[in-house]
Amino acid sequence: MKFFTQAKRYDDVSTLSDEDLICYCLEVDKGTIVQAIRNGAVTLKAIKEATTACTGNECAEKNPNKRCCSKEIKQLIQLEAENV
Ligand code: FES
Repeated sequence: MKFFTQAKRYDDVSTLSDEDLICYCLEVDKGTIVQAIRNGAVTLKAIKEATTACTGNECAEKNPNKRCCSKEIKQLIQLEAENV
């Protein structure tokens, strides 16, 4: 059940608050990533450069989903594109 709750949380990043972490390795929150997107960082590579998110290598230990945060970052880019 715990796994389902965590997975559900990540299934919809729009429900997260700005203070919720997206990248657990580098401790980058949603608000920081959204602001970077709004400042023109609209690719995963650009987000990495602007925020350091998705540049860690301890995802299995630190991220509750035991994987990299790239999926959530791509979802945020898509959400922001849809909100333009
Ligand atoms: S959770 Fe973002 S790089 Fe590991």
